[in-house]
This record gives sequence, structure tokens and C-alpha cells, in this order.
Amino acid sequence: MNGTLVIVGASYAGVQLAASARESGCEGRIVLVGDEADAPYQRPPLSKGFLTGGFSEERLPLRSQAFFDEEKIEWMPSMRATHIDRTHREIQMHDGMRIAYDHLALTTGARVRKLDCPGATLDAVHYLRDLRDARRLAQTACTARRAVVIGGGYIGLEAAASLRQKGIEVTVVETEPRLLARVASPWISAYMQRAHADKGVAFEFGRKVVALRPLHDAVSVVLDDDTHLQCDLVVVGIGVIPNTELAAECGLTVAGGIVVDECARTSDPAIVAAGDCAAFVPHWAQDARACRIESVQNANDMAKVAALAVAGRPQPYRAVPWFWSDQYDLKLQMAGINAGFTHQALRGSVEERKFSIFYFRDAALMAVDSINRPQDHMLARKLLAKGARLSPQDAQDPAFDLKGVVQ
Ligand code: NAI
Repeated sequence: MNGTLVIVGASYAGVQLAASARESGCEGRIVLVGDEADAPYQRPPLSKGFLTGGFSEERLPLRSQAFFDEEKIEWMPSMRATHIDRTHREIQMHDGMRIAYDHLALTTGARVRKLDCPGATLDAVHYLRDLRDARRLAQTACTARRAVVIGGGYIGLEAAASLRQKGIEVTVVETEPRLLARVASPWISAYMQRAHADKGVAFEFGRKVVALRPLHDAVSVVLDDDTHLQCDLVVVGIGVIPNTELAAECGLTVAGGIVVDECARTSDPAIVAAGDCAAFVPHWAQDARACRIESVQNANDMAKVAALAVAGRPQPYRAVPWFWSDQYDLKLQMAGINAGFTHQALRGSVEERKFSIFYFRDAALMAVDSINRPQDHMLARKLLAKGARLSPQDAQDPAFDLKGVVQ
């Protein structure tokens, strides 16, 4: 590839795509545009160490400026793409600037879903997606005493753990009857709930927030059963919406995400997409429905696949999905997708807080969730990549050699 590659979106997928395009032999101009002012940065610490104070802002950048200079990647901050002209292969920016492309990559990510009720825009309400959100929340958390966290997903729970570690009282409000319902098995949900309850977190399950009312120096969070929760800080983590408008407006196929094939190519051969914004049919899927995977792993691995497509060497995306979350002293690591499992097996010790749950659909291993068992997690990724055969009995037998199966 000798022409110009323009990448829209400068977070994990965008930065990885630029780096991988160079590695894959793309010698032309690479332009990376992003609408944030900050240099591309790591997001996972924002709800953890950055909030508790243990992870400083200087450590956040994903790559140094020297990297962009050496690789001749033109990173353009504070630039929002507003229109794609596919006929002339040009992209237009918010300030009227136009950039011609030969290849275009959309790594536009996702934005937070906003709370939609009276009082939702009060100053005490915080989201946690980007660095500006995190700076503002970290500052407020220095003086807050009581917080209500709306949403018991990854963001909500990581924020709850960080706020508790700062001595703040926390209540989590979740519409579903359990935590992490989108991503975790009922067993892991119950375990994480107990872990938070042990640290003093209170829960309101199956409840919706109907209003936020200002009080003197505080806010009252009103639930649909007329419970009033008083607090001075509200953190909202109720999921994300993929940024697909740019793609939809120029006529690319969009269905819950920018639709791509197994090589990350959109319906226009000159345009690839990767990361949170891209929808694809995963190789492990039971049906042909496209889905999006919201994770750092997916952003990085899909970006590598997209870069190969740009370089003219398309390869199908086959990576095993994995996720992690740190809450208190618990490291939760998930490999594979457990949706539709029929059997589960426990390996390790719940009492010692070091165990893994292996999920099977009939005889096939689908996923493994590990708590404080990083070695199991690493092996699980290999087992899943290999399609290794083992039974639930094998998995729960401490004498069974998992390493032996992957060798
Ligand atoms: P999420 O989709 O993981 O969880 C949202 C939670 O909010 C769900 O449990 C849902 O049932 C609940 N909910 C939805 N509407 C609600 C409402 N009106 N009131 C109360 N509860 C409501 O999304 P989350 O936690 O906001 O995270 C956003 C993104 O960031 C996701 O893509 C997530 O995967 C990613 N992330 C990943 C992390 C990790 O892998 N460790 C850490 C933090 C974020």
C-alpha cells in the first residue's frame, strides 16, 4: 500500500491499526485523526488506579510522540471527521479541512449511553469514558462522602470499588436482577455481589432511576419504587452506543455497528473498520448475527486484521476474546464467551479466592472465568484457540494437567 491511509478515531484500535499498517509494509502516508485533545491513552486505569490515585496521568499515553514521529504517523488531535465523500475518496473535518484517502479506517469507538430522566444533567452526575470524565470524577471523589452508582456493569463496579477504597459510601442501582448480566454467568455475578457487599456496598436491583433532585449540597436519586437515595456524587455506567453515524451517512452498511466481514472490510472495499464501532459475525458464533465486542483485546486484534486488509494481505479474524476487570484485590479475567453454556466446572478454591469456572456447551469448552488465577486464564486462552478437548470432570480435577492439553 503506497497511497494515503486515513484512520478516524485515535484510541486503541486507531493507534494499533496505524502501527500494524506500518509493520505490514504500508509505506504511504498514514494520518490518524482523533477528536480528543489528549494524546491517545489507556482507558482501563481510568476507573481503577487513576481514580484511587495510584496511577498517574503521565503513565496513561498509549504511545510516545517519538513513536508517532519515528513511524511517520501524522497524529492530528482535536479533529472531528464530519463527512466521508466515497466518490472522491475524501474525508471532511469539522473545520472544513479535507483529506484525500486511498484507504480509510473507521475506529470511531463508542460513546456513553446517557441517563434520560429529570435532573440527569446536574453537576453531581458523572460518566466515565474518557480522560476528561476521569479527571472531573477523580477531583469530585476527593471530597465526596456518598455516591450512587447507576449501572452494575464493568464501569459501575470498578467505579464502586475505587470509590469504596477512598472511603466513600456506595449504593449501586441496577435494572437487572444481577450484576454484570450482559457479560458474566449468574455464579460470577453472585460472587462479585458478595465481594462488594463485604466491602460495604449496598445494592438496589431491578430498579430504575426516575429522577435526580437537587438538595442542599447533595442530590436525591429517586427510584421507581419511590426509594430516595441521598448522595453528593452520581456515577453513571449504563453501557455505550457505537459511533456509526459517519459510516451510516455515507451509505456503508450499519446494523448495530459498522458491518464488516471476517477480514474487517466494510461494504466499501476502500474502507475497513475495527474496535467498539465494528459489528461482525464471530468465528465461534452459533448463528449469522453480527455483534460487537467491547474490549481492549478486540480493538487491538481486530485493528491488526484491518491493517492486513489495507496492506492487501487479508486474513480472517480468529482471536479468542478476553476481558479483565480489577476490583479490590480481585482480578477477574474472562476468556471466551459463555453465552448458552450447558455445564460449568469449578477449578481451584473459592475460600482462598483463587478459582476458575470452566463453561461448556455439551462437550465443548466455551469460556473460562478466573478469579486471581492468571495462570488458568492464560491456559484457557490457549485451550480455546486450539479447540482443545477436555471434560468438566477434567477441569475440576486439581491433578489434571491443563498445560498438557495445550502442548
Ligand atoms: P455495560 O454494558 O458493561 O454495563 C451496563 C450496566 O448497566 C448493565 O448491567 C445494565 O443492565 C445496566 N443498566 C442499563 N441501563 C440502566 C439504567 N437505566 N439504570 C441502571 N442500570 C442500567 O457498560 P458499562 O459498565 O457502562 O461499560 C461501558 C463500556 O466500557 C463497555 O463496553 C465495557 O465493556 C467497557 N469497560 C470494560 C471494562 C473491562 O473490560 N474491565 C472496564 C470498564 C468498562
